[in-house]
Amino acid sequence: MTPKILITRRLPEKAFELLKPHCEIDYYDRETAIPRRELLKRVAGKEGLLCLLTEKVDPELLSRAPGLKAVSTVSVGFDHVDLGACSERGIVVTHTPGVLTETTADFAWALLLSCARRVVEGDRFLRAGRYKAWGLTMLLGSDVHGKTLGIVGFGRIGRAVARRAKGFGMNILYYDHRRLDAVAERESGASFASFPDLLRRSDFVTLHAALEAGGAHLIGEKELSIMKPGSFLINTARGPLVDEKALVRALQSGRLGGAGLDVYEKEPRLAPGLSKLPNAVLAPHIASASVETRTKMAALAAEGLLDVLVYHRRPAHVANPQPPAPIPS
Ligand code: DGY
Repeated sequence: MTPKILITRRLPEKAFELLKPHCEIDYYDRETAIPRRELLKRVAGKEGLLCLLTEKVDPELLSRAPGLKAVSTVSVGFDHVDLGACSERGIVVTHTPGVLTETTADFAWALLLSCARRVVEGDRFLRAGRYKAWGLTMLLGSDVHGKTLGIVGFGRIGRAVARRAKGFGMNILYYDHRRLDAVAERESGASFASFPDLLRRSDFVTLHAALEAGGAHLIGEKELSIMKPGSFLINTARGPLVDEKALVRALQSGRLGGAGLDVYEKEPRLAPGLSKLPNAVLAPHIASASVETRTKMAALAAEGLLDVLVYHRRPAHVANPQPPAPIPS
C-alpha cells in the first residue's frame, strides 16, 4: 500500500522528487507556515509527516493521526516534537544532523564578526548618508583575533566553530556536560572550562547547546552578570536558552558589548526593545540557510521518512531515545 504523507511546506525539488514515486502526498506547497488548524485537519489519515520546526508535534496533533508511523523534521533540533508522546505511540522521529554543521558554524562566525566589527551599524550609517569623511574614531569595534572564545555545547557545530577560531588565533574554551577525552580535546584546540569560568573569561560566548527539557534560560540575569564587561553573546542554537528580556537590559546598559542572534525566545516575536538596540545583530533564523544545505536537509528528511514507511529500516538519524519496536536497530 502506498503510504499517505503530509508535507507541511514547499520543499526543494530534489527532496520532493525522492518522495513522489513512493507516497501519496498531501502537499502544503507554500513558503509560509501551515496554520495550526489546517495542520490538524490535514494530518488525519496520514502515516508520515514531513514537517519543519514551526510545527508543534504534540499529543493534540498525534490524536488526530492515529495511523502515524513516522515524523521527519527538516531540522537538527527536535524540541518542537514531543518525543515521549511519539515513542509511546510507536512513532519514529527522524531529523537532519550533520548536513548543516559547517553552514551553521559559518553563520555563527558571520554574526560574531558582524557584532565585533559593527558591520550592520556601518551599513546603516552609510545608507543614511552619514558617512562624510574617514574618521579615526568612527565606528570603532572590537578585535577578534587573539581574543578568548567560549563555546557552550561542544557537539558537531560547536567543534566546527572552534576549527574556524583557530584561524583567528583565538584562545578557545568550551563547556559541555560531556568532557572530551584528552586526545579529542587536544585535536579540537579548545580547553575545557566550567560554565561560570567560561562566562567570566570569554570575550565572545557562542551557544551551540540543544534545547532540552528544563534547559531554558541557560543564560539568564545571573549568567549575564558574570560575563566579562563588554563581551559578546552569539546564539544560533535555540532562543529559549537565553532570557531575552535580561539580555536586552544587559545590552541597553552597555554591560555586554553586543549580541548576534539568529533565534529568539518567542520566535518570531522579539523581546521589547531588542530591535531598537544598535549593538544587536538580528537574523531571522537563517544559520543553515544556504541553497546547498537546505537541499541536503530536505533530502535527508525525505529519506528518513522513506526508510520507515517504504523500506522498513532504521533511518540514519532517529531522535527517539528508545526507537519504537518496529524499527530494527
Ligand atoms: C535546526 O535545524 O534545528 C535549525 O534551527 C534550522 O536549521
